Amino acid sequence: MNSTRPTFRIAPSILSADFARLGEEVKNVIDAGADWIHFDVMDNHYVPNLTFGPMICQALKPHAKTAAGLAVPIDVHLMISPVDALAASFADAGADLISFHPDASAHVHRSVQAIKSKGVKAGLVFNPAESLDVLEWTIDEIDLILIMSVNPGFGGQSFIDSALRKVELARKWIERSGKDIRLEVDGGIKPDNIRQVADAGADTFVAGSAIFGKPDYKAVIDQMRVALA
Ligand code: DX5
Ligand code: ZN
Repeated sequence: MNSTRPTFRIAPSILSADFARLGEEVKNVIDAGADWIHFDVMDNHYVPNLTFGPMICQALKPHAKTAAGLAVPIDVHLMISPVDALAASFADAGADLISFHPDASAHVHRSVQAIKSKGVKAGLVFNPAESLDVLEWTIDEIDLILIMSVNPGFGGQSFIDSALRKVELARKWIERSGKDIRLEVDGGIKPDNIRQVADAGADTFVAGSAIFGKPDYKAVIDQMRVALA
């Protein structure tokens, strides 16, 4: 494993939070130790579900900070097509990272540039049946690779094991690039499999139902950190 690998990040997905109390849920999960807030945007077109847009992101932004007042990054995962106009709106709404699915954009390189021109970090997301080939032409431009370990659209699904092999491949791409790129995995992550995902090469872990489905968020995040230690 690369000795220069950055520290682990845990990114709770508010897709599984109580939508009637979203601001409070963001605050509670940050108090419980969240490093990033993962924000799943679905359009009922690219995926068969519908969630929230830039106005909700903007409303949550003031809540995305630690008790000491430090900003906690908002990690926006766009499951929408087309990408560019809404990506710009999310940048204006306070997103710190914006990732999209290459197959959702007619012009992937342009979409990456549109995000970066807003001063926001850009990521590419790969579905379970999708290859990493597009990295050949984009890796020098991006800040994050997000490997889906479930099919996008819903929380609470089971981890797809072939994602581990893809994480290993993505780690090789990052090592070859020599760039500081985060390698995030999304879907079905729990305290009992997070270590395996880290061993495959991931450094950033999305978890929705595993955290918000339990009454004590801190207990789950602590279990994840123990597994990673
Ligand atoms: C699925 C979303 C995930 C989802 C993960 O489309 O991208 O972020 O919330 O949920 P869990 O952790 O419950 O699998
Ligand atoms: Zn996600």
